[in-house]
Amino acid sequence: MEKLKGLILSGGAGTRLRPITHTSAKQLVPVANKPVLFYGIEALVDAGVTEIGIVIAPETGDEIREAVDDGSALGAAITYIPQAEPLGLAHAVLTAEEYLGSDPFVMYLGDNLLRDGITGLVEAFRRDEPDALILLTQVLEPEHYGVAELNGDSVVRLVEKPKDPPSDLALVGVYMFKPVVFEAARAIEPSARGELEITDTIQRLIETGHQVEHHRVKGWWKDTGQLADMLEANRLVLEDLEPHVAGECVDCEIVGRVVVEEGARLERCRVRGPAVIGAGSRLADSYVGPYTAIAAGCEVIRSELEHSILLAGASISDLPSRMEASLLGRNVRISRAEGLPKTLRMLVGDRSEITLP
Ligand code: DAU
Repeated sequence: MEKLKGLILSGGAGTRLRPITHTSAKQLVPVANKPVLFYGIEALVDAGVTEIGIVIAPETGDEIREAVDDGSALGAAITYIPQAEPLGLAHAVLTAEEYLGSDPFVMYLGDNLLRDGITGLVEAFRRDEPDALILLTQVLEPEHYGVAELNGDSVVRLVEKPKDPPSDLALVGVYMFKPVVFEAARAIEPSARGELEITDTIQRLIETGHQVEHHRVKGWWKDTGQLADMLEANRLVLEDLEPHVAGECVDCEIVGRVVVEEGARLERCRVRGPAVIGAGSRLADSYVGPYTAIAAGCEVIRSELEHSILLAGASISDLPSRMEASLLGRNVRISRAEGLPKTLRMLVGDRSEITLP
């Protein structure tokens, strides 16, 4: 197998991460201060797939173009493929047909994150040349995913988000296809949720006698489409953080694996890693606990937080209790008037402003 192209799906509506995704793409929400989408591009590039098409939606496409640009900073050559409406993963594949042409390709869902990358899997695809190669992993709630039914080592059936899952093996959001997939995608009907499903497309390949192979994902895998998954992805990526303090720390106690980026300034703070504090952020008289990612230009004053993600420009001050399991959008401001609620749990959208009682 010679040339292999990449296709990253970065359109869609992002309804489950609202309000963050009212105004921005879910694939750009940062995990350990790097957009989820960048991990996918890097995984493809590491596997030797540098010619990559990115499917974008009308609402969030410009933001994605701005963040990724021509891809050269990540070692990729990017082509943008606008999809007018989020009519399903198989519809996205058909939208990209002209770009993909007769090349086999790796499709990567832009909100997915795989710890161990995809290099070995791409090698297996190149070597064995099946019509499709899918990735599976055991999950606790298979009804939220595409689910595979195996007979011995063969995939016999695939169903999208079944109420009564035939197994606990979920389809991971990385797929490899030969061009025969277009024919299969054209042959299927929209699902109950009104989408052309990639799961049904692969089922169609099986039914028409094509070779569909599967691999088990060994390291962790996360679909970051929801708050809890996003926080969990953040935690898992931060676990492998290389400590590095480039910013300024005055009268601080820094414990464990902590990154303080250039231009950040911390005064009288205690930071217990793993945690990352972005460029130009200002923290004073605060505690930052494990699994926290603070993006660039944030402010944390007289507050405590852990296991949380702050997007660029977010600001918290005088929180009455420790904030945890929270995701604050860009330029969100939380300040305290009076009163003492014991915990804070929130999913707050871009440019929100919250003043606590
Ligand atoms: O994450 C794995 C799961 O991804 C699989 O187990 C499912 O079988 C598969 O259908 C998919 O399910 P989701 O419901 O999580 O897919 P979602 O709508 O989140 O879309 C995945 C990515 O594709 C996301 O980055 C948005 C993008 N997308 C989605 C649609 C529907 C597009 O670019 N165009 C679209 O039309």
